[in-house]
Amino acid sequence: MEWTREKRYLPYSKWDADTLLHLQAQAANSPYQMHYHLHPISGLINDPNGFSYFNGEYHLFYQSYPFGAVHGLKSWVHFKSSDLVNWESLGLAVEPDTMADSHGAYSGSAREIDGKLFLMYTGNHRDENWVRIPYQVGAWMDKNGKVADKTILFKNPDHITEHFRDPQILKQNDTYYAILGAQDKAEKHGHIDVWKSKDLKNWEELGFLDMGTDDLGYMIECPNIVRVDGHVVVIFCPQGLDKKIADYDDIYPNMYIIADDIDFENHKLINPGKLHNLDKGFDVYATQAFNAPNGKVYEISWVGLPDTTYPTDNENWANCLSQVKELSIKDGKLMQKPVSAMQELRYNEKEISDENKASQQYEAELTIKAGQKGSLYLAANDNLTSGLKLDFDTENGTLILNRSNAGQKVSVDYGETRQANFEANTDLKLNIFIDHSLIEIFVNDGEEVLTGRYFADQNNTKLAFAQKTHYNGKLWQMKTIL
Ligand code: FRU
Repeated sequence: MEWTREKRYLPYSKWDADTLLHLQAQAANSPYQMHYHLHPISGLINDPNGFSYFNGEYHLFYQSYPFGAVHGLKSWVHFKSSDLVNWESLGLAVEPDTMADSHGAYSGSAREIDGKLFLMYTGNHRDENWVRIPYQVGAWMDKNGKVADKTILFKNPDHITEHFRDPQILKQNDTYYAILGAQDKAEKHGHIDVWKSKDLKNWEELGFLDMGTDDLGYMIECPNIVRVDGHVVVIFCPQGLDKKIADYDDIYPNMYIIADDIDFENHKLINPGKLHNLDKGFDVYATQAFNAPNGKVYEISWVGLPDTTYPTDNENWANCLSQVKELSIKDGKLMQKPVSAMQELRYNEKEISDENKASQQYEAELTIKAGQKGSLYLAANDNLTSGLKLDFDTENGTLILNRSNAGQKVSVDYGETRQANFEANTDLKLNIFIDHSLIEIFVNDGEEVLTGRYFADQNNTKLAFAQKTHYNGKLWQMKTIL
């Protein structure tokens, strides 16, 4: 089927129920489908949206195009959870059904305000000449999950191009602030634009956030600010970033900066540090984070990249979300670790031995003793000629994830290996999560994370070292959540 522009933007009501049912069955029955991570009910998903706590539960939405593996007319699909691991699906929540979001209810955030959930997102509108107008929209969700009262809050000011989106709503003292990804008209550089409002209706632009680095590429998507252990962390996706500023391998990176504080009124980070890659693996983008009322800071990412095709495209579905991670700062570094409820998915505990039939749905926790180097195979066939390969060198403190021989290929032009570093000459602790076509590796309790998609034969379930290795570890099967 050819994805013409007309087809991508066909109103949802024009699609017939049989087509949708067929697409849902394709997504559900695919061997590559995730079973304990949020995944598409049908079609393509991308950014997590509206990650928040409301009415005693966590809420999360994702960008969805339900009718195929393309970036078509986007909507928000809603989930809720009491533990950030077991999610209940609540269906379509923000539909592209007004003039302001006629060409997609794009990404945004949410915050509980006076007993309702305030949603702030980008309404993607195109006029009859296909000129894009990025409206920033406010809407209110009640306790029954009904979204109403969509209102245009503001659009791009004159000095910003059509690339102006993904508002995060924040509050400090009595003032609301919103930060948005933006491209300025004069230089065509990427920025984070800061706005303020007292009443959520009247908004005023304060200016581009000074992050201590002048050139952050041509556009910034999905900016997020959270307070972590007395610091301010800015998580964002700079597109076209010069690799001299911060090195990365993916088509577009997801980066973070740690600063001492933020001065919203003067749109300035106080003492900002360098840019760091948030995830050392493949495919992580559009991470959304928020400060929860329990004092913890949580993040969740899209595992998928813009302008990238994946092997399940020919099954008409694509992408998934990461697990939720809890953020903290240790020795000036962002730590990302699984939330505690992840452990409740574990069952059927086994000691890891030299030859393991592990399934495609498990967690392995391994400690590899210092002073060794070698390879660990995951999702591998019996003779280890096919599988994900993890090369560890504890003398030099390097870990390399290699997906070049793990089945169907993804994004080979951007390299098939990714590296994380850790302290040399120490034991190496790994928590490895496998979910059919998704791998998440936590290094030393979250000092580094390597995430990635892989598309292996589902019969390839072996977990084994390629050589004699001193280690100990456990293996659990993981329950299905949805
Ligand atoms: C990032 C992004 C956002 C936009 C959304 C549209 O992946 O391009 O900037 O709001 O996806 O689906």
